[in-house]
Amino acid sequence: MHQYDIQLKLHPDYGPNYEPIKDDPVFDPARHLALEHPEHMLSLAELGYGDEISGTTPTQVAATSCFRVLSDEGVEAMYHVCKQLEAFTTSNPRVARNTRGGVYRSAFLRDFSMCPDYVDHLSSILDTPLLPLPMGHQMAHLNYQPLTVGKDVDKWHYDTLQVDTVMFVTDPNKVEGGEFQYFKGTRDEMAHMHAEGTPFPTDRIESPKMPGPGYAVLMQGNYVVHQAKGLRAEGERITLVNGFSYADTNTPDYTALGQLFHADKPEVASAEYARHVALRCSRELAQIVNTPNFTDSAHTHAEHLARVRAELTQAIDQLNSAAGEEMRHFGTG
Ligand SMILES: [Fe+2]
Repeated sequence: MHQYDIQLKLHPDYGPNYEPIKDDPVFDPARHLALEHPEHMLSLAELGYGDEISGTTPTQVAATSCFRVLSDEGVEAMYHVCKQLEAFTTSNPRVARNTRGGVYRSAFLRDFSMCPDYVDHLSSILDTPLLPLPMGHQMAHLNYQPLTVGKDVDKWHYDTLQVDTVMFVTDPNKVEGGEFQYFKGTRDEMAHMHAEGTPFPTDRIESPKMPGPGYAVLMQGNYVVHQAKGLRAEGERITLVNGFSYADTNTPDYTALGQLFHADKPEVASAEYARHVALRCSRELAQIVNTPNFTDSAHTHAEHLARVRAELTQAIDQLNSAAGEEMRHFGTG
């Protein structure tokens, strides 16, 4: 008998026809991971967020201190992969050199970014289940230092997604500058200061201590305003940003598609976003298909279907309006 089960793949069978890197190590969690917990966590309330964002996130953690993710062997393998991916950097109004979509070129990068041990570990830190972002260009983003010394790696901004890590692949202590920094305030405060031309209050800028390569910060990137400083002398700085979404479908999705059109080809970003939303909705619908609740009221069933419809409507609106949006950032400072 046919089961008609839908097989949902987090990563698609093929990408946008990108050439793979030549020498791709095999990712082995036992050898390449060295997961530790952060010592400190900053809450959304400490940044100044309150009831206005209730319902948009299942966790109160805004950002963590740095914690170890990769072993020494993992750092070596990741660096080897990132050096090959450096051949594919692109620019956008915020970042001089980044490689996006590396998961379509490197199985190592993809298998690390989707590794259940890694994702479960991050979920335990935030105390809510996470999923690797199925949008390949968002799942793993690489920043490389600009070729001009002193030029910032990335300007003040908040992210186009909900949760991400920022991990140093190169040793942050072997270069001058290149700090990752975040603003101890809300994104509205930063927007207001930027619009008024108010100088950034330096006492509210935090540069988390980065013990070495393979260490990361975990944050709610769409609520934590952050930047990456430039190097003050010649050197190498590579960071990997892994993107995640909340598995809890009661939390609405946040993807700033119009912003992604500046970083990726619009047709690629659109395909990934449509796929991401379809996957979220399919997971929710699959529950109704496979485990129907025969005691719920008609109203409850209608609520479930309406939630999926609302997410699809929001995605349709965004796909139809994303083109032409200006890139948002708050400059440097
Ligand atoms: Fe960011």
